[in-house]
Amino acid sequence: MKVSSFPEEFLWGAATASYQIEGAVNEGGRGPSIWDTFCHTEGKTFNGEHADVSVDHYNRYVEDVAILADLGVNAYRFSIAWPRILPEGTGKVNEEGVDFYRRLCKELQSAGITPVATLYHWDLPQALQDRGGWVNHDSVEWFSEYAGVVYQSLGDVIPHVATFNEPWCSAFLGHSAGEHAPGIQDPGLSFVAAHHLMLSHHAAIKKMRSMDPANASSLGIVLNVIPALPVSDSPEDVDAADSVDAVHNGLFLDAVFRGSYPEKILGYHRKFDVEARIDLDELHAAVEPIDVLGVNYYNINHVEYREGSPGMAAWPGADGAAMGRPPGELTEMGWGVEPEGLTLTLRRVHDNYGPIPMMVTENGAAYPDVVEADGTIHDIKRTEYLKSHIGAVADAMDQGVDMVGYFVWSLLDNFEWARGYSKRFGIVRVDYDTLQRTIKDSGRWYQEFLSG
Ligand code: FCB
Repeated sequence: MKVSSFPEEFLWGAATASYQIEGAVNEGGRGPSIWDTFCHTEGKTFNGEHADVSVDHYNRYVEDVAILADLGVNAYRFSIAWPRILPEGTGKVNEEGVDFYRRLCKELQSAGITPVATLYHWDLPQALQDRGGWVNHDSVEWFSEYAGVVYQSLGDVIPHVATFNEPWCSAFLGHSAGEHAPGIQDPGLSFVAAHHLMLSHHAAIKKMRSMDPANASSLGIVLNVIPALPVSDSPEDVDAADSVDAVHNGLFLDAVFRGSYPEKILGYHRKFDVEARIDLDELHAAVEPIDVLGVNYYNINHVEYREGSPGMAAWPGADGAAMGRPPGELTEMGWGVEPEGLTLTLRRVHDNYGPIPMMVTENGAAYPDVVEADGTIHDIKRTEYLKSHIGAVADAMDQGVDMVGYFVWSLLDNFEWARGYSKRFGIVRVDYDTLQRTIKDSGRWYQEFLSG
């Protein structure tokens, strides 16, 4: 596999997210986000860990861009912290926050690296959560105001903008399982939140397009399209897998591309009494086409039916559904390593919703790294993971899928949400005491691969 077999203009990058790396939560006029609140609530994260400092990217972005340049990537995916731009969520713009992202983009551009930004990677301003957050229909207005502010002030330096990162996590981990901020456990509200996230996506695309009629930027959204495959072909297992798939994938793909929901989701709306709280016609009327879809892929969900099982809170409605064990060795997250699932996923989107240009906006693996006496990190398994998944992208392209980019998750070891600092995904190690960065062997492999 050679980089030269991919198109010349293919985006090769690494990805991060604001709350996971920036730290500096009280610097530069930033307001609090729901993740600050969540992490500082007892019992919510591993060891009570938080990202107040994290890897201090806010103050070290020049060094981090130099690392990206050293790796030889031509693109960098990051997210913009809404509470840095609008500390209260709406209203007064914090120019210092805007200025941080402008400096970051300028630094990237002078290193020949294309900025690829996500507007929302889960750090909702706490002030908006206090007004109901995504469960409040006003969130559609709040988000399009924010998108407009970012596009107005930074659109000239960011050629690729995605609205949301993995809205499934915001809706269902955040409002049903409660594992993510804001930590609500109410299946009905999770479907309402999902609906408002989808309306917000379309409204933000519409807003940004109206400000840029020539469509100079490429606009899209990032979904974690994770295959849900039955462990057997028994009708019960197949149905359980379809139910998980509907909540995880179908809901968001249909809403983005068609402005509708799968039949199963309409059933869950009835089941959880949310029909009166959402307007399906509004979604249908709101649909805006996107230029590119970002796909985050890590693993396959192997689903089985277990008699009497209450189902799983992260996929509400799928009664009796349970997760089966993936085949083979697992990563430190307990996830399987199944690159063929990535080809499958890309094909599925292409066949059912495309043709549409796609980029893999996140892909990577957590392993317990060992630092050798000389400071090197021989993370062979991570390297193998990346190689095989880049191969899976190549396979999808051979099958006619229109791929325009690939981003490793993650550039740096960082704050892995509810799991705190216990899981390392970086191709660059960060020593959490000294904040020193060291390129791991996986990063060296990527560098060599990219150098052709
Ligand atoms: C994805 C998130 C990203 C990171 C990886 C491991 O779901 O988008 O922030 O946590 O998982």
